[in-house]
Amino acid sequence: MPTFLLDDREIEFNPGETVIAAAERSGVDIPHYCWHPGLSTAANCRMCLVEVLPPEGRPAMLLDVLRFDEDKGDYVLARKPKLQPACQLAAAPGMRIKSQTSEHAIEARAAVQEFLLLNHPVDCPICDQAGECRLQDYWLEHSGKKKRMKDEILHRPKAVDFGPTIVYDAERCIVCTRCVRFCDEVVGDHVLDKRERGNLGEIILAPGRQLDHAYTLMTEHVCPVGALTSKDFRFKARVWFLRTVRSVCQGCATGCSSYTDFDPRNQTVYRYRPRENQEVNKYWMCDEGMLDYRRIHEGRILAAKVAGKKSSVDEALSEAASRLVPVGKDKLAIVLSYTHSSEDNLALLELARALGVQQTYATGRPSGEGDNILRHADKNPNRTGVVQLAQATLGAAPLDLASLSSAVESGAISAVLALGSYAEDADLAVKLDRVPVIALSTFEGAIAERATVVLPASSWAEADGTFVNANGLAQVSEKAIQPQGDSQPAWRLVLGLASKLGVSLPFAKAKDLGEVLSARAPKASAQTEAQA
Ligand code: SF4
Ligand code: SF4
Ligand code: FES
Repeated sequence: MPTFLLDDREIEFNPGETVIAAAERSGVDIPHYCWHPGLSTAANCRMCLVEVLPPEGRPAMLLDVLRFDEDKGDYVLARKPKLQPACQLAAAPGMRIKSQTSEHAIEARAAVQEFLLLNHPVDCPICDQAGECRLQDYWLEHSGKKKRMKDEILHRPKAVDFGPTIVYDAERCIVCTRCVRFCDEVVGDHVLDKRERGNLGEIILAPGRQLDHAYTLMTEHVCPVGALTSKDFRFKARVWFLRTVRSVCQGCATGCSSYTDFDPRNQTVYRYRPRENQEVNKYWMCDEGMLDYRRIHEGRILAAKVAGKKSSVDEALSEAASRLVPVGKDKLAIVLSYTHSSEDNLALLELARALGVQQTYATGRPSGEGDNILRHADKNPNRTGVVQLAQATLGAAPLDLASLSSAVESGAISAVLALGSYAEDADLAVKLDRVPVIALSTFEGAIAERATVVLPASSWAEADGTFVNANGLAQVSEKAIQPQGDSQPAWRLVLGLASKLGVSLPFAKAKDLGEVLSARAPKASAQTEAQA
């Protein structure tokens, strides 16, 4: 690979790559606002200026400038090298570039920083970007000085309603156009544009439009400052109180790599953010996915129930076992869940195998809208994983709920043990009234409503779990918060049920279950794990 020198460090680059992109790949940050690796180059913020040294023996290209001379009390003529934006500069073999070691680049960054903050409001105490704002970070790193302008700042529109999810603040906007380019280049919707120049520059909506496509929260996420804020997250949490785990979006079968941000003090999840994964979602997520974290705290089943009355988990497990003991293996329907992790489903499959049940069923969320960007019409995060595991464990893929409905109707099935909450087949939901149902459910839903015994299963945010996306890529979603209420990971509930049934399973704890899973199905991809 060809290389260039950046502050005396050798950086490898791919032909055609820019200096900033190659540096970032090597873990070196050249400060920037407008550049984003997934968008075209605008080169309008000038924060990434670097000094390119001339080839050995050649003179540097110098510019005449006026510099203030303290002794003379006047401006005097001086010369300085012409700096270049690293985001637009194509890397070339043997190039010598100074970034952190160039006094001219350092001076230019401080000047850009001062310029960007000239008319910036003192909003940090009430700004949701505080704590993760590039204006704050770069001010500390590259300026650290008070601005010299003493005049009142130029006031511009604040709290402009851009649509159902986003609010715009023109005073905080540095007009980097990342949001405009994201809408144009990734979403293909020219709903945003820039008007005016200089101090008056601001981002506007297309006439008659709102920012209302399927990727509005991502539009907000690419904003490097607090100019775009999400109505969902505004004023809810301070980011320095939040902790982060690597997760997998549960919104659809694309399985975008995400971060879950949660507050450990109140065990509450506040948002999802995209996690770069070039194989799956690149840098992006959709609104549906980014808002899907809300399900973790909505419509939950947090306690066990027997015949509609609250009970302890242990009592409910005993009741479930007593209902299942008289049922012959041919008359028991075991229902897997396309929304639960491979670990939860594997535990149920192992129980099926131990009980001699050969054929399983599976349930999931109904299909929805898809697109050719990220969104998949299948709204289940682990259909592929469940099918793979059922085939590897019992030699057959699970049947759909229509088959279960017919089997209940014909009397072929006389009890149901189901993981998950969704029964989009309304017909089945009615028929489930005819047989005892044991439900291991995270959310309220048609199955749990009709269940004789309900066992509270933890959500994906409360346990480590593996999810296999539509392309067969396995990824681990890490535990963020403690299991809510009396809930437990579904695999643990299955283990408890097996013990009440006097059946032994080939695992006793999460680690053993992980080993059985590794032997049965492809491991979570190392590539994804490396991208912490
Ligand atoms: S709103 Fe944000 S992303 Fe858009 S131009 Fe302004 S600073 Fe840049
Ligand atoms: S495309 Fe699917 S997996 Fe990706 S963020 Fe949206 S809902 Fe989540
Ligand atoms: S990052 Fe804005 S000019 Fe290079």
